[in-house]
Amino acid sequence: MTNIQFHVQPGGHIKGRVRVPGDKSISHRSIMLGSLAEGTTTVTGFLEGADALATLNAFRQMGVKIEGPDEGKVTIHGVGLHGLQPPKQPLDMGNSGTSTRLLAGIIAGQSFDVTLIGDASLSKRPMKRVVDPLTAMGAQIETQAGGTLPMLIKGRGKPLQAIDYILPMASAQVKSCVLLAGLYADGRTCATEPAPTRDHTERMLNGFGYAVQTEKLDAQQTRACLQGGGRLTACHIDVPSDISSAAFFMVAAAICEGSDLVIEHVGMNPTRTGVIDILRLMGANIVLENAHEVGGEPVADVHIRYAPLKGIEIPEALVALAIDEFPVLFVAAAAAEGTTVLTGAEELRVKESDRIQVMADALQAVGIDAQPTPDGMIIQGGSQCPQKAKILSHHDHRISMAMTVAGLRAAAPLVIDDCANVNTSFPIFLPLINQVGMQVAAMETVA
Ligand code: S3P
Repeated sequence: MTNIQFHVQPGGHIKGRVRVPGDKSISHRSIMLGSLAEGTTTVTGFLEGADALATLNAFRQMGVKIEGPDEGKVTIHGVGLHGLQPPKQPLDMGNSGTSTRLLAGIIAGQSFDVTLIGDASLSKRPMKRVVDPLTAMGAQIETQAGGTLPMLIKGRGKPLQAIDYILPMASAQVKSCVLLAGLYADGRTCATEPAPTRDHTERMLNGFGYAVQTEKLDAQQTRACLQGGGRLTACHIDVPSDISSAAFFMVAAAICEGSDLVIEHVGMNPTRTGVIDILRLMGANIVLENAHEVGGEPVADVHIRYAPLKGIEIPEALVALAIDEFPVLFVAAAAAEGTTVLTGAEELRVKESDRIQVMADALQAVGIDAQPTPDGMIIQGGSQCPQKAKILSHHDHRISMAMTVAGLRAAAPLVIDDCANVNTSFPIFLPLINQVGMQVAAMETVA
């Protein structure tokens, strides 16, 4: 098997204007809801990364005619909520937790059996979190002994039962799974989350003409509800650039003296902007320009100029709002003067890798004092990354990209092993990061 290594030259200056690819979460949902809608949905700005393509292929295998993607344009000929066909083979979700957990909700409402499979990383991730609520709604699901993939979801001849579900963890995937299953349930399904998580499913359902009611129960808890048995009407979706991909460029500019970078058309959904709040608390100079709205989602250009960073205690209320950005925020913390403490982030241990352990190991390998804790990390920042190191990504795209950015503060070249995974969320990361001032080469080796 070939292995892609990133060879990162130390240092660099970050300057210019970039546009990063479309939002992964919104891209997944555009295919799902477009397929279940009545009529033809058009999508622009679709992320042509392996994860979103896994969702697209799954719906093709269930009989949906989808044209594209062609330079981010996709046309979906929706089959309606009850028009999916049984796939001829198991659906391969690749590395994508979002595909798996959201699809599980949709498939639980079908009349045919489906098996979901995934790659080595996905096959270790917990699925009990979706199996529990779906089983309570009447679905019959079989997983491996540890609650992992492969997962067989049995077809049923009658609707699911609505549920009023209190999520045990802040997870947009679990919330979305329950709401999507709720489309196929008798009655009103509700999902209450312990802290705000991304609300793209709720927004997009409303955009497809399917009413979702949301109410804030207190400062943290939100309840989202919908009535089963309605219909979705096709529409146009313009996918903004992914703030999670933009985050690598924000941190690159934030840790590098003399930087001046504009990242265009970035999604600014308030359930996703924790990375900006955290970087600002650390002292980053970030200005949002040209703010406007596309298809129910706020967007803006992010203008970031270098300013010295300081270590902080990251407020726990921001954790769910920046959940995918911690690998690169740890790099910002390593570059900041003083100590940064993260708590309340145990969910990081069940992402594409255990992002607490893997990032602590990677930062220690380059000579940073990074101490993992059960639910976070303590990082003593301020120094350069003094050591030459070879880093393992552990099948995790965001580790590959975060440690590439760390190269800006390195005193010696870094080699990052197993980087083909960058393709899952950000296929053009390498040319873009080189365009703004880094020197990174991809080398093929035999694994
Ligand atoms: C996602 C939700 C988050 C996030 C993932 C995408 C989504 O996962 O980490 O990258 O699109 O709903 P959790 O729900 O597990 O927090």
